[in-house]
Amino acid sequence: MPEIKVNNLSHTFGKNTPAALTVLEGIDLSFPSGSFTSIVGTSGCGKSTLLKMMAGLFEPSDGEMTLDGDAIKGTDRRRGMVFQQDAVFPWMTVAKNVSYGPRLRGASRREQKEIEAKWIEMVGLKGFEDRWPRELSGGMRKRVDIGRVYANDPDVLLMDEPFGALDAQTKERMQSDLLKTWGRSKKTIIFVTHDIEEAIFLSDKVVVMSARPGRISHIEEITLPRPRDNEMRLTDEFLQIKRKLWGMLEH
Ligand SMILES: Nc1ncnc2c1ncn2[C@@H]1O[C@H](COP(=O)(O)OP(=O)(O)O)[C@@H](O)[C@H]1O
Ligand SMILES: [Mg+2]
Repeated sequence: MPEIKVNNLSHTFGKNTPAALTVLEGIDLSFPSGSFTSIVGTSGCGKSTLLKMMAGLFEPSDGEMTLDGDAIKGTDRRRGMVFQQDAVFPWMTVAKNVSYGPRLRGASRREQKEIEAKWIEMVGLKGFEDRWPRELSGGMRKRVDIGRVYANDPDVLLMDEPFGALDAQTKERMQSDLLKTWGRSKKTIIFVTHDIEEAIFLSDKVVVMSARPGRISHIEEITLPRPRDNEMRLTDEFLQIKRKLWGMLEH
């Protein structure tokens, strides 16, 4: 089973220069196959840096990361990344955006159509196949973005504050829909956010990071039952976890 592991990872930007800045220190984490983990921490604690390293966009100065026991080096479609800013191509329709990766790898027309149908349905964009990104709301563009990453069939989805720019209601809908999609596909998701409620609602496990240099200060197992619905956010159990984690974040 694919499992991602981070062992004693540290990172210093500009190591051995006067401007050296240590942003991560002694990070040990494991993300079991099919699990949903969120990483929370105040702005600047190194969340994006950690996620980008797991995507293989650059290497840590110390420590190692493995997927299924293999060292992570460079980008690979087994690890798909969704950023806060959507990466949708404005010159492609919704359908063409979703099948972009498979098309690039030489998927046949029929395969492309199958992939488009499956993921457009899954992310809730049925009926919008032939629309252009400029005709979509921010939430819908995010759905295209997520569909496009899923269409590459990665083992791990790395999401960096993907809903950070959306209004509160759209955000809640996107969270519920993401859980449905995840429930059906059973990919491993690593989700970075500074929104504690979002992290609790989505996750099996919430990792709390300290301010720079980012270290793991706490790991909370979230045992709230699934499937989860919005009303759960108002239960005593939920609010108790929220209060606890809120107190741990450095404000
Ligand atoms: N390429 C870079 N070179 C130098 N410093 C960087 C670089 N990227 C990020 N940083 C610094 O590293 C720290 C952590 O950044 P980041 O990982 O983006 O934090 P977060 O996502 O938690 O807000 C910040 O102080 C940021 O300014
Ligand atoms: Mg960030």
